[in-house]
Amino acid sequence: MPSSTCVVTGGAGFIGCAMSRGLADRFDGVVAVDNLHPQVHPRQERPAALDPRVELLVADVTDAAAWDALLGRHTPQVIIHLAAETGTGQSLTEASRHGMVNVVGTTRMLDGLVRHGQRPERILLASSRAVYGEGAWTDASGAVHYPGQRSRAMLTAGRWDFPGLTPQPHDSGRVHPAPTSVYAGTKLAQEHLVTAWCLAMGVRPVLYRLQNVYGAGQSPTNPYTGIVTLFARLARSGATIPVYEDGLMQRDFVYVDDVSAALLRGLDVAPAEPDPPYDIGSGSSVTVVELARALAAHFGAPAPRVTGQFRDGDVRHASATIAAAQRALNWTPRVGLPEGIARLAEWLPG
Ligand SMILES: NC(=O)c1ccc[n+]([C@@H]2O[C@H](COP(=O)([O-])OP(=O)(O)OC[C@H]3O[C@@H](n4cnc5c(N)ncnc54)[C@H](O)[C@@H]3O)[C@@H](O)[C@H]2O)c1
Repeated sequence: MPSSTCVVTGGAGFIGCAMSRGLADRFDGVVAVDNLHPQVHPRQERPAALDPRVELLVADVTDAAAWDALLGRHTPQVIIHLAAETGTGQSLTEASRHGMVNVVGTTRMLDGLVRHGQRPERILLASSRAVYGEGAWTDASGAVHYPGQRSRAMLTAGRWDFPGLTPQPHDSGRVHPAPTSVYAGTKLAQEHLVTAWCLAMGVRPVLYRLQNVYGAGQSPTNPYTGIVTLFARLARSGATIPVYEDGLMQRDFVYVDDVSAALLRGLDVAPAEPDPPYDIGSGSSVTVVELARALAAHFGAPAPRVTGQFRDGDVRHASATIAAAQRALNWTPRVGLPEGIARLAEWLPG
């Protein structure tokens, strides 16, 4: 039987490490292409959580020569594209950096495949719920509205919601993307690039729109991502967790092992062209202040404080209908928030 190889860009990151054992069990070879981004990997070391069977190639996805070196040695059946600059707020002040890695990094990968005459069977892409922006809202009559981006003036005045409208859960079959950050724009661009290229080349694109992923292994030092890890660190140190806006923003926090399971299912899912983007979440949402209270209680920290501050690029509410993903991927999330918090707390490095 010919040997099988999987290439995982960003494979040394949070989600990549969580998937690494499952991938190493399944493929003869797994190569993680990762530049050990200093914001995520301050010590620039191979993460202990990366399965030892995975080959780590320290390289930048924007580097065409690195793709040539990799594809000269390997012919991947599957590419899982996780590498990205992931700072939502940061992307507004460092737009080119996000554009370069997320957009050009993706096209460099595709060009590399063309130069080497390679067509993987499928490319899995970790896109984001960020592509929906503020998403769809309904009025009292049930009519759907896309209110667009909250303005600076609205946020400064503490007008967090869109009056008279009720937010609807993300659902790729019904809700159109409407990015409100540069990061989100680049994630949507990734979806379009991967889909267009794959369909033209006879490669199967499998797209995922991930809600807020959390859990053991998320970079505890990256200040730009991972609100659960950030809050958990504050609570463990005995600090009061500051909660932005009025604290009532809804989020769907999905445990990393459930995300890893959904991605691994995408290796097997039977062809149905083209796949809709799969919305991946826990299936239920909580407010950010509820999350903060749960973490404060877990660590015996003081009650969280709602500050009325805000962050550009943040959306008001995010939750998802995951029924389509559950059906298509024969997958279901298993880790609820209390268990997820307990697992995160047990892991959280000192
Ligand atoms: N974690 C979440 O909540 C979440 C939500 C939605 C979507 N996503 C998407 O999932 C993917 C993985 O996210 P994660 O949470 O594992 O993030 P992460 O930051 O832990 O992992 C990303 C990895 O990519 C690497 N990387 C960054 N720039 C690179 C470059 N130029 N070349 C090569 N490697 C590079 C980093 O070193 C890191 O190891 C990303 O594409 C992200 O947009 C994550």
